[in-house]
Amino acid sequence: MDTKLIITTFTLFLFLISYVRAQTKGFDVIKYGARPNEDITEALTNAWKDACGSTTPSKVVVPKGTYKLKQIDLKGPCKAPIKVQVDGTILAPKNPKHLNGVDQWVKFGYINFFTLYGRGTFDGQGKMAWEHNDCGENKNCDLLAMNFGFAFLNNSIIQDISSKDSKNFHVNVLGCNNLTFINMNINAPATSLNTDGIHIGRSTQVKIINSNIGTGDDCISLGDGSKQITVLNVTCGPGHGISVGSLGKYPNEEPVEGLTVKNCTLKNTDNGVRIKTWPDTPIVSLVSNMHFEDIVMVNVSNPILIDQQYCPWNQCTKEHPSKVKIIDVSFKNIRGTSATPEGIILDCSSSVPCEKVELNDIDLTFNGAMTTAKFVNTKPTIKGKIPKLMA
Ligand SMILES: *[C@@H]1O[C@H](CO)[C@@H](O)[C@H](O)[C@H]1NC(C)=O
Ligand SMILES: *[C@@H]1O[C@H](CO)[C@@H](O)[C@H](O)[C@H]1NC(C)=O
Ligand SMILES: *[C@@H]1O[C@H](CO)[C@@H](O)[C@H](O)[C@H]1NC(C)=O
Ligand SMILES: *[C@@H]1O[C@H](CO)[C@@H](O)[C@H](O)[C@H]1NC(C)=O
Ligand SMILES: *[C@@H]1O[C@H](CO)[C@@H](O)[C@H](O)[C@H]1NC(C)=O
Repeated sequence: MDTKLIITTFTLFLFLISYVRAQTKGFDVIKYGARPNEDITEALTNAWKDACGSTTPSKVVVPKGTYKLKQIDLKGPCKAPIKVQVDGTILAPKNPKHLNGVDQWVKFGYINFFTLYGRGTFDGQGKMAWEHNDCGENKNCDLLAMNFGFAFLNNSIIQDISSKDSKNFHVNVLGCNNLTFINMNINAPATSLNTDGIHIGRSTQVKIINSNIGTGDDCISLGDGSKQITVLNVTCGPGHGISVGSLGKYPNEEPVEGLTVKNCTLKNTDNGVRIKTWPDTPIVSLVSNMHFEDIVMVNVSNPILIDQQYCPWNQCTKEHPSKVKIIDVSFKNIRGTSATPEGIILDCSSSVPCEKVELNDIDLTFNGAMTTAKFVNTKPTIKGKIPKLMA
């Protein structure tokens, strides 16, 4: 290319960039009456309505400052791609009763090309809710709101946002296709009940990348119908680790298919990577294509675990084995320290043994000594180094 052509091309490029920028219409909540330290539910709802109706790409802005927000349900379909930029701190009501038993505090749903981003924090102020949470034992306990519900989103991105002290799960993903979480910060104390980081169900192509998640429950969990899920460069801890399941409790569950967990660190978690299914399952189902690779464990109680007899609080009988079949699973290059002598436990179902399980280069120690490995109803392929087999 000659210089003139390069300059012309470059000018055209700059023009295009400014054109695209100019095309994005801003909808600042301050213009809709939002004020710091006050409730912005109405302002945000109205800004969203106008932005969503825009025929050119739009952006709703919540600037720096602290705001209060009641339950909000922002829905599409929108007429063009839509972004929400949050740089402020948004506080949920402290008292769970002020959320009137809704399942999720901040909901986004039925949108194509949605982006939520910014330096902002969504603070669920969950302390009061955790103190009253008895949902482990009491089936009729009060419903506590999760910080976020993302439902039926396509081609969407959640970026840089922090989620803090949710009353329940931090993020619930349902019915989404091609949704990426990147650079997220999710935090709640180790002692907070049920504050799972990101739970995914009935969704395809969900990615969680470059994120930090420390809570009182699972870091990331996959429910039924999760497909093609990627977890990359995520640090978990404290909490219960990365979990597939629990599965097999309900009769209408869909298979879980395709999970890659790569380059992750788990610190001081109860579990590292695990797959858990209930015994006495009402249905035959499948968990397939699960790959865990390049993972560092730091003081993790059960670093590698398949538990097909998962039955907390004796909510089931173990009369019949699980009918959830686990197939095509690999654990590769997993190293670090365990908080117990057991490094690997693969406890598979006697009716449908795990198949095509591979262990490759697992180097886990407990107090400086090599950990153990225990296999029930499975015969994994072993490559490289692995913990000491138990008889
Ligand atoms: C998302 O994709 C699904 C499957 O292609 C489609 O049925 C649905 O209408 C899409 N939703 C939106 C809001 O575009
Ligand atoms: C997934 O969504 C992102 C963000 O909108 C988009 O850039 C990308 O092209 C989508 N990927 C596919 C395979 O549709
Ligand atoms: C991995 O994630 C951390 C944030 O947790 C980030 O600082 C780092 O740049 C990421 N690494 C890569 C290669 O993206
Ligand atoms: C892998 O994880 C380490 C430790 O968190 C991080 O520094 C590095 O950037 C990650 N690499 C990639 C490719 O994500
Ligand atoms: C290691 O984990 C155990 C059990 O979770 C915990 O009691 C202990 O404090 C942890 N040690 C360190 C050094 O964090």
